[in-house]
Amino acid sequence: MFSTKLISITSNTDSFAADLVVFFSQQNKKGVLATDLSVKSKELEQAIALGDYGGDDGETLLIYPQKDPKCNDFSGRQLFVGLGSIFDKSDIELREQCRITGGLIAKAARKLKIETLSLTVPCIKTMELDDVAECIVEGLLLGDYSFDKYQKEDSKKPNHKGIKKISVYSTGKQNKMEVCLKRAKSSAYAARSARNMANEPGNQWTADSFAQYASELAKKYTMKCSILTKRDMKRLKMGGILAVNQGSSEPPKMVILQYKAKRDTAQTLLIVGKGLTFDSGGVSLKPGAGMQDMKYDMCGGAAALSVMAVVGEEKPDVNVIAIIPATDNMGGSSALKPGDIIRHYGGITSEIINTDAEGRLILADALAYGIKKYAPDCVIDLATLTGAVIMGLGHHRTGLLGNNQNFLQKVLIAGERCGEPLWQLPLDKEYSDQIKSTVADIKNTGGRPAGTITAAAYLQKFVGDTPWAHLDIAGTAWDFTKKSYIPKGPSGTGVRTLAELIRNWKKHC
Ligand code: BES
Ligand code: MN
Ligand code: ZN
Repeated sequence: MFSTKLISITSNTDSFAADLVVFFSQQNKKGVLATDLSVKSKELEQAIALGDYGGDDGETLLIYPQKDPKCNDFSGRQLFVGLGSIFDKSDIELREQCRITGGLIAKAARKLKIETLSLTVPCIKTMELDDVAECIVEGLLLGDYSFDKYQKEDSKKPNHKGIKKISVYSTGKQNKMEVCLKRAKSSAYAARSARNMANEPGNQWTADSFAQYASELAKKYTMKCSILTKRDMKRLKMGGILAVNQGSSEPPKMVILQYKAKRDTAQTLLIVGKGLTFDSGGVSLKPGAGMQDMKYDMCGGAAALSVMAVVGEEKPDVNVIAIIPATDNMGGSSALKPGDIIRHYGGITSEIINTDAEGRLILADALAYGIKKYAPDCVIDLATLTGAVIMGLGHHRTGLLGNNQNFLQKVLIAGERCGEPLWQLPLDKEYSDQIKSTVADIKNTGGRPAGTITAAAYLQKFVGDTPWAHLDIAGTAWDFTKKSYIPKGPSGTGVRTLAELIRNWKKHC
């Protein structure tokens, strides 16, 4: 499934040898189609003359050109894609536009069941050619995604198996172009693998699946993988994850994957992702309607683990450790109950008010353990933690909270640059007061007001002074803002923000 070949080419003629050949067009400042198109064709000219194509942003035109006897260059299908007028756009807007354009091309390619595609990288004045190519191809690969493994194939209408080969034609420097295409591929594939994990149902993707995937990555990229079992958790007194797992017949796993940079003095980033493979709410049972969506409650873990493939491919100058506390949250006679008091790794006790506030319980153990064991310079966690973040920010922005403004700023920029925007929420002391308990050190909910913030305040108790960023992806991990390169269902959000952050790691904290 993940097998698209990407090649950078420098010969214009080669670019015509594909099932679909893509060209871009731009408009001048007044919104009039620029005439210096990289290809001339009668069919295109006719479409323009009739007013059927003006090159607006996102406009597409598919043509079937007649073979010109004087010319060897020929392709059966050509797709023209409008970029509109790009003059007043910021770098961030242009990058997003390129990805969206890539997604549009993927859509057209899927519809036509295209196997080989070539495109001529458009010249966008304020951007490097290889950056343009990277964003377009990333959008293309992100858009070229489907999940149909559990559906019977219609023999008359076989499913599209994805684009097999993309040839990228440009006059840019070849080596730079190749690096960029590789980056586009590794981040898009990592996001797609996170989507795949999320699409798997709760009876297929279990805590052990995270462990298996991590050990495969470890083998492939020679990283270190350690799996803490239930026995280890008991020995380490990880009362949070054990409590959440109590009602389950599926054993919990704490999955740890470590990448070590070459340089001994490299900084260390710890990534923790909520790997809740199904959230029924436990004894504080969720309502039935929509409960099937709670198979997606592992998207934080999926992002944390998937980005390690990018790390493995690119070998950055920063140590990266991913920890995924993984379990489901079930009810039953052995399950955790409201009123119970648990003791987290490290000793903090917590009164359980609502067993549906389980994410913070498993994350608390993972954060405290990861920080104690690996002494990271920065820590970032991703979790589908609260329904409240959807009330506040909808499905358009990830909630961001933390204890170090400098680090948060880097995360904000990383998200902005890759089309996964975040919005920071405050984390003042007053919010911590909401989770004070009369019988334990803290309690696991702070009531209805500011649910996203009190959840973060809970986690804050376990990170100490380590610069920390918390990403509440409950609204963005699935049903993310509709975009050409992000399908319905799981989005793979977080993966590319992390990749961006790691790629630009220069003393973040
Ligand atoms: N996994 C949910 C959060 C969630 C809700 C994600 C809706 C996506 C859509 C989390 O475990 C949860 O149930 N949170 C509770 C916390 C509350 C009981 C304090 C919530 O948000 O309702
Ligand atoms: Mn829950
Ligand atoms: Zn949950």
